[in-house]
Formats: sequence, structure tokens, C-alpha cells
Amino acid sequence: MSENKAPFYITTAISYPNGRPHIGHAYEAIATDVMARFQRARGREVRMVTGTDEHGLKMFQTARDQGRATIDLADEMSGYFREMYARLNISYDNFMRTSDAAHHAASQAIWRAMEANGDLYLDRYEGWYSVRDEAFYDESELAEGEGGTRLSPQGTPVEWTVEESWFFRLSAYQDRLLALYRDQPDFIRPESRRNEVLRFVEGGLKDLSVSRTSFDWGVPVPGSPGHVMYVWVDALTTYLSGLGYPDLDGGFGTFWPANIHMIGKDIVRFHTVYWPAFLMSAGLPLPKQVFGHGFLLNRGEKMSKSLGNVVDPMALAEQFGVDPLRYYLLREVSFGQDGTYSAEAIVRTANADLANSFGNLAQRSLSMIFKNLDGALSSDYASHEDDRALMAIVNDACRTLLPREFEQLAFSVGIEEWLRAVFACNQYVDTQAPWALRKSDPERMRAVLMTLFQAVRALAIAIRPVVPAAADKLLDQMGIAPNARDFDALNDAGWFAALAVSGFTVSQPVPLFPRLELPEGAGEA
Ligand code: MSP
Repeated sequence: MSENKAPFYITTAISYPNGRPHIGHAYEAIATDVMARFQRARGREVRMVTGTDEHGLKMFQTARDQGRATIDLADEMSGYFREMYARLNISYDNFMRTSDAAHHAASQAIWRAMEANGDLYLDRYEGWYSVRDEAFYDESELAEGEGGTRLSPQGTPVEWTVEESWFFRLSAYQDRLLALYRDQPDFIRPESRRNEVLRFVEGGLKDLSVSRTSFDWGVPVPGSPGHVMYVWVDALTTYLSGLGYPDLDGGFGTFWPANIHMIGKDIVRFHTVYWPAFLMSAGLPLPKQVFGHGFLLNRGEKMSKSLGNVVDPMALAEQFGVDPLRYYLLREVSFGQDGTYSAEAIVRTANADLANSFGNLAQRSLSMIFKNLDGALSSDYASHEDDRALMAIVNDACRTLLPREFEQLAFSVGIEEWLRAVFACNQYVDTQAPWALRKSDPERMRAVLMTLFQAVRALAIAIRPVVPAAADKLLDQMGIAPNARDFDALNDAGWFAALAVSGFTVSQPVPLFPRLELPEGAGEA
């Protein structure tokens, strides 16, 4: 496949820190991290930006209800997001808080650019607003709630709002947006989300209210006292401020436009209608792709504080381990669609795939090398047709199939290809029965064990973006140098280089993935 070595920029949505992170936030961070690690392992220079979205009425009101300053709430909760990222091994380069001065400066810079382009004007806003979604809705989009109340398409309450406001000339961008969706068909993925957006934009666009005057928690509008920016204007600008915009040197010159904005399906409109229009107005290049992943449900139900079924990712990491959790989320859910989570399913998947299949393969291969070859490695052996057939399967999965699927964010499909190669290896062990060759044909035993060493090395490198800690622990035990763990090391030269580590011997391996037990009562979680 084509070896694209261009710089790669990926972002997550920035979360509202009005509460602690939940498993949905963790899911998005993990998927984005796997892509970032995967691209690094493909030899690309990567930037990953994430952060917290601290302005807006939702933050303001939550803090007010708790009787505390908004920045105080933001400081505390933003800290929990960082802690979660550290715990889950999220390899971000920059964590942006929208309350930072540098972010304010970037938001004011894009504002001025839109203003200079003649796209901002002052008027009066009269319409519906949902604080929970931080979104304006048209009358025609609303549904009737209990007692004649109005609800947004997301089912959240809306309130009638009247205030002086700056407006962005979104209506002028309809044709350019439709041309964008047509000319860059991959701009919105998956396909189902693209169709939704197309229908919305084809229906006509109204100008967008982009400032608020009824509260002051936000980025001040330059030259317009009393106005703060609509929270989505500054939130989206994080993708620029995270690279140091408006300076070119902080990475902006190298990494913009973004390759992927990874977001959930509920915020696709902001990213595929408003955001490209703002960028066009400011004369900035457009991101290559917005990917709207599905929602993670708890046993098929939406998670919400009121249902009391919000899952704490830190508790899951504690219970099951970080790598099993990461693996489960990407293996189980077909990326792009909604997925469901349950403790039993994590235990089942982690035990079947990681403990019993891959972990067991690694464990028995390395311990046989330790016991029967005194841990000594060598690439000098006569390979048999069966060995070459196995390596063809493993190499195809690790060099071609998994990377091809991961490039498309089809993580679960890529992992299945990898798993097929793991199964083939375990079958090879059973068929070749190296323990029986020890006496009858020691040379043949050595060839089998070295084939397994080679296969396990390739499988560990390929799955490393998903389970980085376990893969590194395994590669350490195998004596594979830290700089020989990328996809480039999967070619034949890489194999010989791996063995050139002079004098390394395999010692008694330690298990990578202990079998998980379902904790008492976890089934009810
Ligand atoms: N602050 C905005 C995003 C601004 S981006 C410029 C926001 N924040 S959020 O905290 O509500 O959501 C953050 C991300 O988590 C979004 O991409 C959202 O879709 C995602 N998820 C929230 N709940 C989720 C699940 N239950 N499952 C999967 N992802 C979910 O929206």
C-alpha cells in the first residue's frame, strides 16, 4: 500500500468539563489515540490535540447552581479529564483549555478574519436555544415535550431567547458547502452522517447568532464590549489554537489542515456546516475529514446521570486493566456505529482474544525458547514450507490487512484480521508440536520456535497502537529495541536487525494478560 509519510494531525472533540469524564469521552479519546499511535508507527509525524470546552451557558449555570466560580469548576473537572487521559495512555501532544489566554487570542484572530471578510454583522437574536446542546434551533426542528414544552431534536429543553447579537452570514455559504461535500466526498464520514448533513444544508441555511450578551463567561468579542462569543465559535477554534494559531511556528504551518476531526454523531452539524464556513470566511484551508463515531450505550441504553448508569472509565481501567479496556472498545464496536458496553463482554473478549489467544501464544512461544533453546535467538535456520506458509499469513495481516483497515478507521475489522493470524499461529503450534521435536529433531524444533518468535514479534508490533503497554512489555521480553517497533520493522530486513541484538537471550516470560474474573455484582453495573 502507498506509504504516506506526510505530517498527520488528529483531534478529539473538546469535552464540556461540567462533570467528570464518562466512558463515552474515554471511547473517543482511545479511538483517536489508537489512530495517532498507528500513524506514528507508520512513520508519520503526528500531532494530537484534545482539551476542555470551558465556556458557554452550560458551564456557567452548572457552576452557579453549585455556588462556585465557573473557572473553579473548570479547573477541577478539566483536571479529571487530564487524569483520565494519563491513566488510559492517551498520547496527546497538546491539551487545550479554552479558558487559556492563548486560546482567547486565537479565537479573536479568527473572529477578526471573518469580520474583515464582511461576514459578521450586529442584529437582534430571537429564537430557541438549548443550553444542554449549546445550540440554536429553528422552530421547525422542535418536538413537543410534556406539558406543551418544546424539545430540541436531541430531546433537550429549549428556551426562548431574545438579545442583541453578532451574526455570521452562514446563508451565504450554502453553495460552497454543497460543493465541498460533492468535491470532497470523504469530508464527512461515515456515509450515513454525510447524507444527514446534505439534507440539512440543501434545506437552506439561516445566518447564525455568534455572540451573547446575557452573560460574560466566554471570549470577549474584539471591539464589542458586552459581547462574548457563542461557545461553539471559540470551541471549534481549539483545533487551530492547539497548533499555536495565529502563529505559524507552533505547528500550525506544518500540521494544518487537520487530517481527521474525531467527534461523536451528535455534533456533526457544528463540524461540517459551521466550522468549514468559518474557515472559508477566514481564508483558512479546510480539514480533510470529520468522522462522526457512534455512541457507546450501557447495555443498549443511553447513559445519563438521571438513569444513574453513567460508567466511570477510571473504575473500568482499575477493574479490567487499561489495555483490555482499550482493546475491547475497538474490537467490539464497529467504528462509526453505536456500540454497547457491559462488564461481562469486556471479560469475555479480553479472556478469549488476549489471555487465551494472543497472550497464550506469546507465553508458550517464549517459554519454549527459554526452556529448549536456552533463550538463544538466531535467524540461521532452515525454514520449512509450513513455516513460510504461516509467516505469509502473519505478514499479510500485520503489514497489509490491519494497516489498510486502520487507515480507514475500521478498527474492528483490522483487529479481526490480526486475530485470524493469531489463531493460525496457535494452530501451527498444535500441529508442529515443537515439544515433541526436542528429542526427535532438534533442528526442526529450532526452526519452529524461531518462526514463532518472528510471528509473535510481528503480531505485537501490529497491535501495539491498541494495547501499547502490553505490546511494549512483550517486545521488551523479546529483546526488540524500542526503535524497532514500528511498521517499517516488519519487513525482512527488520527481522534480521531484530535478531542482531547481540547476546540477548529470552528469559522466563511473564504473562501479559491475566485472565479476568467478573467481579461480584459487576453484571448489574
Ligand atoms: N464541547 C462539545 C464539543 C466541542 S468540539 C469543538 C461537546 N462536549 S461533550 O462533552 O458533550 O462531548 C464530547 C465528545 O464526547 C463528543 O464528541 C461527544 O459526541 C462524545 N460523547 C458524549 N457521549 C458519548 C457516548 N455516550 N458515546 C460516545 N461518545 C460520546 O459536545
